[in-house]
Amino acid sequence: MTGKNFYITTPIYYVNAAPHIGTAYTTVACDVVARFKRLDGYKVWFLTGTDEHGQKIEQSANKVAAKPQDFVDEVAATFREVFHKLNISNDDFIRTTEVRHKKCATEFWNILKKNGHIYLGKYAGWYSVRDETFFTEDELVNGNAPTGASVEWVEEASYFFNLSKWQEPLLKFYKDNPDFVFPRYRFNEIISFVESGLRDLSISRTSFKWGISVPGDEEHVIYVWLDALTNYLAALGFPDTRGKMQRYWPADLHMVGKDITKFHAIYWPAFLMAAGIDLPKQVVSHGWWLVEGEKMSKSLGNVIDPFALIDKYGLDQVRYYLMREISFGNDGSFSYQSFIDRNNSELANKIGNLAQRTLSMIYKNCEQTIPSYDKDKIEMLYSEELLVRAAGLLTKVRSRFDEYQFHKALEDILAFVDEVNVFIDHQAPWELKKTNHEKMTEVLYVVLESVRYVAILLLPFMPDSANKILDQLLVKEDQRKFESLHRDFFLRGGEISQPVGIFPRIVETV
Ligand code: MSP
Repeated sequence: MTGKNFYITTPIYYVNAAPHIGTAYTTVACDVVARFKRLDGYKVWFLTGTDEHGQKIEQSANKVAAKPQDFVDEVAATFREVFHKLNISNDDFIRTTEVRHKKCATEFWNILKKNGHIYLGKYAGWYSVRDETFFTEDELVNGNAPTGASVEWVEEASYFFNLSKWQEPLLKFYKDNPDFVFPRYRFNEIISFVESGLRDLSISRTSFKWGISVPGDEEHVIYVWLDALTNYLAALGFPDTRGKMQRYWPADLHMVGKDITKFHAIYWPAFLMAAGIDLPKQVVSHGWWLVEGEKMSKSLGNVIDPFALIDKYGLDQVRYYLMREISFGNDGSFSYQSFIDRNNSELANKIGNLAQRTLSMIYKNCEQTIPSYDKDKIEMLYSEELLVRAAGLLTKVRSRFDEYQFHKALEDILAFVDEVNVFIDHQAPWELKKTNHEKMTEVLYVVLESVRYVAILLLPFMPDSANKILDQLLVKEDQRKFESLHRDFFLRGGEISQPVGIFPRIVETV
């Protein structure tokens, strides 16, 4: 198991607004990957956190007449709570107002400066506070940022990063690392953007104060994106390059939404090259959630609050839906009808029902005891086609994860559940009960052994529910990992209590 380290990050979230479905989505997706990798034997470091500087946050604090620090303390606490509620297994939570982060960002600046990549100039151009992004005249669409956010004319003294010099090195890096950005079509957009030429980037502001001061020039604060991106290093202890930095850098995966891919796939590698630091291995960019096909927005009144959904229907139901409904990378649309349909047909009728009805038959007909068999008998039972397939499932699911096709991974698991259901119908243990009790017990055992595979593979998606199934199957804690997806870890039997359903149906019409 040594040497298999995996460093995964979410973007750090702006604390100008409460967590929403986007926050939940990116973070849950990262959590699913982090859990998957841990179960697969990796030593994972999973980072999330909050982005607390910049004009947008300063304005939000002003609006409620709060001091920025008090304001960000309060909102950051909400984010922590929300991640707890989402059952996120992060190893660290970084805030850009922490001393360790400020130290890192400042040192990073010093390195860029020392290496000759920063110069003082004057910025005159458009700025969108909502996007915290500079735009050129020809990038504007109807006088606004391409995102629709309003822009303001900014003219101020500014430090610049010599981004234009990094065009060729970036293009070479992209060529040498054809998987650097997922999905490929987003990577192509990035490549064309860089090919079309890069301008030097303004990396300081003087017109507001809420940020990290530029070392040696207190008039300026560091541009929020340069500040924010260094969080990925700060959390590993940079500028100290030993310890966690040595173990986990370069990052294996920065997961981001499509709107912020450019910052991670262009600016960040350019900054890192300029600082002489290794580049992350991959930037994975996901699509956006729409609602019933429309953009989610306060003015349309169609904002989905994932936390209200959790309160109403349960956490794992929401985690499942988020990962199941969208083809990762593309946009997807939230709809109550599809949420209910997936819950009822996939979770309740397929997975839940399979576990529940098999355990109930064991409970009723086998003296409340999962049978135990010796190794030879297990070998014999494993000649059953179904268990051969169960044992092959991990390879399939793993390759889905390698391509970030989480919905397909779930489809594979569901397809296997269908096979198990066909097996039960075909073997008809309720008939065998009358004619061949021993055979009935074997059939039920084979089904339960199949459920063990299903539950372990569902652990990354729905940890609580999958663990509840494994509890009922009497699977030991230390055998709930992918290594155990093998006949050597067959169910050892034992007395069970009255089975309980895991996935209730939602009885509600939209
Ligand atoms: N603070 C920056 C990131 C800095 S990382 C060094 C930021 N924060 S954010 O809070 O605005 O956005 C965080 C993430 O939420 C982004 O990846 C964004 O794509 C995602 N989402 C916001 N709304 C979304 C949807 N409606 N659907 C899916 N994800 C979306 O950007």
